[in-house]
Amino acid sequence: MKKISSLFIFLFMCQSVVFAQETKITVREDQNAPKISKHIYGHFAEHLGRSIYDGFYVGDTSAIPNKEGVRTDIIKALKEIQIPNLRWPGGCFADTYQWKDGIGPQEERPTMVNSWWGGVTEDNSFGTHNFLNLCEELGAEPFISGNVGSGTVKDFADWVQYTNHPAGSPMAKLRKENGREEPWNVKFWGIGNEMWGCGGNMTAEYYANIYKQYATFMNASENNENLYRIAAGATGDDYHWTEVLMREVPKSLIEAVGLHHYAVIDWKAKGPSTNYTEDIYFKSMKEALKMDEFVAGHIEVMEKYDPENEIDLAVDEWGGWYEVEEGTNPGFLYQQNTMRDAMIAGATLNIFNNHSERVKMANIAQTVNVLQAQILTEGEKMILTPTYHVFKMYTVHHDAKLLPVAFDSPEYTFNGESLPAISVSASKSEAGSTNISLVNIDAQKEHKVEIDLEGMDVKKMQGQILRSGKIQDHNTFDDPDKITIKDFKDFNLKNGKLSMVLPPFSVVVLSSKK
Ligand code: AHR
Repeated sequence: MKKISSLFIFLFMCQSVVFAQETKITVREDQNAPKISKHIYGHFAEHLGRSIYDGFYVGDTSAIPNKEGVRTDIIKALKEIQIPNLRWPGGCFADTYQWKDGIGPQEERPTMVNSWWGGVTEDNSFGTHNFLNLCEELGAEPFISGNVGSGTVKDFADWVQYTNHPAGSPMAKLRKENGREEPWNVKFWGIGNEMWGCGGNMTAEYYANIYKQYATFMNASENNENLYRIAAGATGDDYHWTEVLMREVPKSLIEAVGLHHYAVIDWKAKGPSTNYTEDIYFKSMKEALKMDEFVAGHIEVMEKYDPENEIDLAVDEWGGWYEVEEGTNPGFLYQQNTMRDAMIAGATLNIFNNHSERVKMANIAQTVNVLQAQILTEGEKMILTPTYHVFKMYTVHHDAKLLPVAFDSPEYTFNGESLPAISVSASKSEAGSTNISLVNIDAQKEHKVEIDLEGMDVKKMQGQILRSGKIQDHNTFDDPDKITIKDFKDFNLKNGKLSMVLPPFSVVVLSSKK
């Protein structure tokens, strides 16, 4: 009898271990849930290192195939991830940029020193026309960050007039003389960048006044009614910055407040981009996941002043930031991109989706050859990074309606510290497909999940996965397809319950099909 009861206890314990390992997730439809703005999937191209020059832009005399000087392989790759918007020309560079130096005949354009990024000469060969024509080619909304720190209100207002005024104004006339008849109608305008730092080391109170002045004069013409003005936001948990802007700026002058947060383990020792330990990996993920706390914290402040939810939060810089690759210019911020970056991208985009009632825009830093890049180039070669592949898998969420999820994540434990191992977001597209993106950041353990699709009438699903053998794995110019999106079929869908095992450090996206 004693033997039987011990066997029973043993079996019961085994069973509870199995149950404890399975994470139950519920996904439900909510009529009041917001749409996930496609602009959360925005990108960023600064005049920094090899982002523009020797990145996007090789010039129209280059042997590398190009359209008006921009690499066609990059254009094709960005179209494939349905790039919704592109932020330009900075970053810190924006508050040094004189836009009038970047128009007119290229050979007559004055040069400047790019004082933030490597002290190199900027010859202004890539300017407003190049950028806006590129956006048109990509089908992406341009997002211009204007110079507030070292510019003037008039220069800023002139830039808006140059890009947006149809005819009859001095700037519209100048644009036409430079070969562009129709205005581009740029909607997204950043009023300065990091004004607490490289934008001019201002206090929030001082910037709030300056902001109002710039925002007022940008609305000079009839055609500018649809401007979307983004105030340069806080970094990390600087809630005071957001509080001051929300309190001081009238709603008639602002459409969004910015926020920047980089996953950096230590600004003085950022760690390598590829050859890192699990300790460094864990710390990077800890920093990346703080995005959830920061976004929630800034939203809480915004709620206080804007319970009507009329002003958006735009996380217009985010991503992983490591030491530069050996032998490269430290001012160029060139880093490789591994499965760690895929984890940061997948988990961060899930955070934005789940906060899409207020987060309407975000821009990963940066698109080509800088920081957490989606694309790396070397001469005529180009590779797509794990981060790129995550953006591709997540296109299903663009402008889809959020489906709220609820679950308790198992823990990813390392050296006595824990992080939530799993992150999830879900949406329903206008065409009716249900999409679920799951990320398991645990470097060691797989995690079993069961998703209850609460009466959603989902009968068939198809899946994709991004995974690799080692967390440090990455694509190289010699092995560009080491990490690519693969079909994922290891799931079971029965009676509205979807179950699967998420491999360690993997991203999975499932979509229903008819
Ligand atoms: O993305 C690189 C830099 O990081 C940007 O120029 C600046 O805004 C931020 O500090």
